[in-house]
Amino acid sequence: MIRSVVRGVGTALPRRIMKNAEFETLVDTTDEWIVQRTGIEQRYIAADDETTASLGEAAARAALDHAGLTPDDIDIIVLATSTPNNTFPATAVEIQQRLGMHHGFAFDLQAVCSGFVFAVTTADAHLRAGLGKRALVIGSETFSRILDWTDRTTSVLFGDGAGAVILEIEENQGTPADRGIIACSLRSDGSHRDKLYVDGGPSTTGTVGVLRMEGREVFKHAVGMITDVVEDVFAQSGITADDLDWFVPHQANKRIIDASARKLGIAEEKVVITVNLHGNTSAASVPLALGTAVKDGRIKQGDLVLLEAMGGGFTWGAILLRW
Ligand code: UT7
Repeated sequence: MIRSVVRGVGTALPRRIMKNAEFETLVDTTDEWIVQRTGIEQRYIAADDETTASLGEAAARAALDHAGLTPDDIDIIVLATSTPNNTFPATAVEIQQRLGMHHGFAFDLQAVCSGFVFAVTTADAHLRAGLGKRALVIGSETFSRILDWTDRTTSVLFGDGAGAVILEIEENQGTPADRGIIACSLRSDGSHRDKLYVDGGPSTTGTVGVLRMEGREVFKHAVGMITDVVEDVFAQSGITADDLDWFVPHQANKRIIDASARKLGIAEEKVVITVNLHGNTSAASVPLALGTAVKDGRIKQGDLVLLEAMGGGFTWGAILLRW
């Protein structure tokens, strides 16, 4: 059986850290409210010279270094982002060019906060279909560019950053004990479009627009949708919450993460939390959390890891893999 195995992971963050206290001078909020309601203590904000492409390139280079590979070894680049450098071409081809790569193919994928989970699932399907041997999957975002900085209900929640993994096909027995991606589950439902969207676009306003969200409505649906796809990957694989070594959820709100883990019966000490450090970085949040937990030695080769995300669309998805 052919499986896509993770060979390396890398992350990149803008230079500037913005603490909650800074928002107290911008909007009617407090550090205490932000920490209590979301778990966020700080986020990183990109400077003018830091873009989705430059952060994505830095994360890609870190993942290549971690894997001991070079761009020559990569056949496919999939970039998950909702904040591309330009409407077109795809920011993935800009990253391809920055990496000095003239072979293979690169494209962007847009599923907002679920983008990385959708991109890994898509890259896995490409690899197993024989379209390449190795894929570079990146989540990179500069949400600071699409925020309404006068809106306290959204501006305090998001941050910028990037994370990347290298997937490589490997022939193995395909049992839950073997390395690689074991099961994936993707969903979307466009009837929830108006609960989380950007109020501009090339084909409508001709502007970039800013993020609009009915936070309470998103919150209400999040836990049920997350547990739905996680239970699907459990059912596909015969794996249970007790078997997991690590749960790496989308980092939007610590209360959503805690409630999802509780509902799924996942022990608190298995949950990777980085929302306090990064805020919600949309498609970058899962690979940033993964990279953090690999770098600090928590996630090790052979560990059973569960990824999930939920966001605009709505879109939601989960991936079960043996690291
Ligand atoms: O990654 C994509 C998925 N996105 C998410 O998962 C986000 C999901 N939603 C959430 O995380 C939460 O709903 C929020 C963090 C956005 C809001 O938390 P909440 O506990 O649902 O608060 P709320 O929206 O019910 O608002 C409670 C109060 C309101 O005031 P009133 O109406 O009770 O007087 C808000 O106006 O808190 C007020 N509020 C704030 N107060 C101080 C909203 N934002 C702020 C703020 N500072 N920044």
